[in-house]
Amino acid sequence: MALMNSHDDRKSRELKVYIETYGCQMNLADSEIVLGIMNKWGYSPTKSIDDADVVLLNTCSVRNHAEEKIHQRLHVIMKRKSENSDLLVGVLGCMAERLRKSLLEKHNVDIVVGPDDYRKLPQLLEGAFAGVRGIGVQLSRTETYDDIVPLRTEGISAWISIMRGCDKFCTFCIVPFTRGRERSRTLGSVVREVEQLVDQGFREITLLGQNVNSYRDNTNDFSDLLAAVANVDRRLRVRFTTSHPQDLSDKLIDTIASHDNLCKYIHLPVQSGSNRILEAMNRTYARQQYVELVNKIRERIPGVALSTDIISGFPTETEDEHRETMRLMEELRYDGAYMFKYSPREGTPAYRLGDDVAEETKTRRLNEIIALQQRVSYEINQSEIGKVFEVMVDGVSKKSDLQQSGRTDTNKTVVFPLCLLKPGDVAEVRINRASAATLFGEVVSNLN
Ligand code: 5AD
Ligand code: SF4
Repeated sequence: MALMNSHDDRKSRELKVYIETYGCQMNLADSEIVLGIMNKWGYSPTKSIDDADVVLLNTCSVRNHAEEKIHQRLHVIMKRKSENSDLLVGVLGCMAERLRKSLLEKHNVDIVVGPDDYRKLPQLLEGAFAGVRGIGVQLSRTETYDDIVPLRTEGISAWISIMRGCDKFCTFCIVPFTRGRERSRTLGSVVREVEQLVDQGFREITLLGQNVNSYRDNTNDFSDLLAAVANVDRRLRVRFTTSHPQDLSDKLIDTIASHDNLCKYIHLPVQSGSNRILEAMNRTYARQQYVELVNKIRERIPGVALSTDIISGFPTETEDEHRETMRLMEELRYDGAYMFKYSPREGTPAYRLGDDVAEETKTRRLNEIIALQQRVSYEINQSEIGKVFEVMVDGVSKKSDLQQSGRTDTNKTVVFPLCLLKPGDVAEVRINRASAATLFGEVVSNLN
């Protein structure tokens, strides 16, 4: 009997693909699209890298730190490949788009594929199995992967990407260059996907885009889409992210206010509290306009929770301007914030301004911002004690098997003693204790 060589062996069994995802929720959704594409070609997903024939890293370029971490991880994975020459390694996502050929040269990976070229994956892998390394980094004005069925991990919560790319060109941000121009899926296709998810038992969906507020198909805007999705099933919780302040219309606020199942939580990045810095960032709004928008949202959507993104140490930021950001945070009292040190990205307009805020100044400013937000989050959460929230259960608590966890409509994590609730169930929980990050309580009634 002839010995089977590794190529024949590969052909005679199902190939397994392992994917690691870095960065934003868009990337998580994209990884599910990638698995959907690969699955159609006969690949099955594996959760263990040891079983994999193909290892893919879906990468993030938004800050240098993210890229460095991924470079280190790639070194480890390429070492694995040097011990198993049959293994194929691919880099996907924003780093693939940004670094392109240099990834092939520097890390010797087999394929490099950017966010709009995932349909080419099966052919590129076919080539790579035959020893030809491949690259696909074409950006598209139309690709939305509308017809691809994402291969989702089990659970009650699903992401749906409704648009791709970004046309905002904030001066610090690499995303418009790595993800290309803005384009939206049709309302009909999103609604059909939601209907299928409901049939499959999903209880919560998050509509995703770099800037969902500028969603547009021929006749519908984002408010129309949200209303249509909310009407699919009144018990489905509907979330969305990310919102750009410039495009958050009155119509959208009224739509959120008038549907019980549109979650009362808006992630509304401000980035800075200083008008001069906002202008240098090309954020297209002034501090006062942003404040008025927040006041309007809070007036029309009672109980709404707000979170934000803040960058500290943008080029030329002075101590006074940093304090203006702190004052804005004090004034608006966000429920939560994602806070970052400015990271220069080559090719962005801000890169040309240099990176003139000293590293230790950036670190100190960031720490001040984090400490302030921690205090505010703690105070807000303390004021929730005694209140009763509808909590959707998402699983066992991360810290203890005797505790369950879930989230409020306003996206706060609630931990409570284990009871007979399963993921997706909704219960009323009375809060009796709180930290800056978590509410703790007890179930007062099961709403299922
Ligand atoms: N440096 C630091 N933070 C950045 N972000 C985007 N680009 C950069 C950068 N170059 C942050 C912004 C954005 C979030 C997703 O990442 O705050 O809202
Ligand atoms: Fe980047 Fe600004 Fe677009 Fe967000 S809105 S992805 S920060 S360019």
